[in-house]
Amino acid sequence: MSLGRHLLGLEGVAAEDINLILDTASSLKEINSRPIKKVPTLRGKTVVHFFVEPSTRTRTSFELASKRLSADTVSLSASTSSLTKGETLIDTAKNLEAMGPDLIVIRHSMSGAPHLLAQHIEPSIINAGDGTHEHPTQALLDMLTMRERFGRLEGLNVSIIGDIAHSRVARSNLIGLNAMGAKVRVCGPRTLLPPFAASLGAEVCDTLEQAIDGADVIMMLRVQKERLDDVLFPSLREYAQRFGLGPRHMRKAKPGAIVMHPGPINRGVEMNPEVADGPWSVILDQVANGVAVRMALLYLLIGAEAK
Ligand code: CP
Repeated sequence: MSLGRHLLGLEGVAAEDINLILDTASSLKEINSRPIKKVPTLRGKTVVHFFVEPSTRTRTSFELASKRLSADTVSLSASTSSLTKGETLIDTAKNLEAMGPDLIVIRHSMSGAPHLLAQHIEPSIINAGDGTHEHPTQALLDMLTMRERFGRLEGLNVSIIGDIAHSRVARSNLIGLNAMGAKVRVCGPRTLLPPFAASLGAEVCDTLEQAIDGADVIMMLRVQKERLDDVLFPSLREYAQRFGLGPRHMRKAKPGAIVMHPGPINRGVEMNPEVADGPWSVILDQVANGVAVRMALLYLLIGAEAK
């Protein structure tokens, strides 16, 4: 395995390692439906969840994953930490390190923040989303959800639609799906389609209809209003008209096609509620798989067998 001590991104992670993570997640998933959802695997280990950006799904699922594997956990938010008093990220990390954690999960608005920590401190680091760069655990849970539904990733037709440029989810999925042999298409306003999509082997579609045609997986992305410094499309209303997924689109989709979204959803913008809550949606399966994938990573990085 070339996974090493950290998971900073999916760039450079081999297909065999992705398969190992997904296989481990599939094995551990059963724990989450037991009456007593706890095993002693990480007893005596300490995990810090350091979230400098808001999160519902990633933070909660990491905390549950750590607790279900019996790790001791500490959670730190930007607003309640001494970052608010001007302490630097590296000073904060070194102070956390001094308390002896085995692993730090970090989410930060700055691309590269997890890599910076990995250069300066000893504990294992997992990237829980860094700026517009990568969100590797999201892509892994997405790939687990696809693999469960279709039994494979190789040859799967996956269309990623929306704000690709600002999406760390899109980047990690493009890297991971490319490594696993899926065929990826991207679609969105030209101003929100970055050059990296084509360089990662994705086909670019101009219309939602083109992107949906023949797709097994339709992955809708959130319009990230918090990262839009400039006006990159005329209005949310126009965006919803051109790129919002509705039941009329799904009636023309490939039979058996699934709809994914990393959350949080802007209902009525990138997706109509009838789709979000409809028979095509596997959005809550993605959320459930998030716990299993994060358990797998904690186990592989700091579990008994980890180097
Ligand atoms: N998908 C995702 O990262 O959601 P949160 O921001 O709620 O963690």
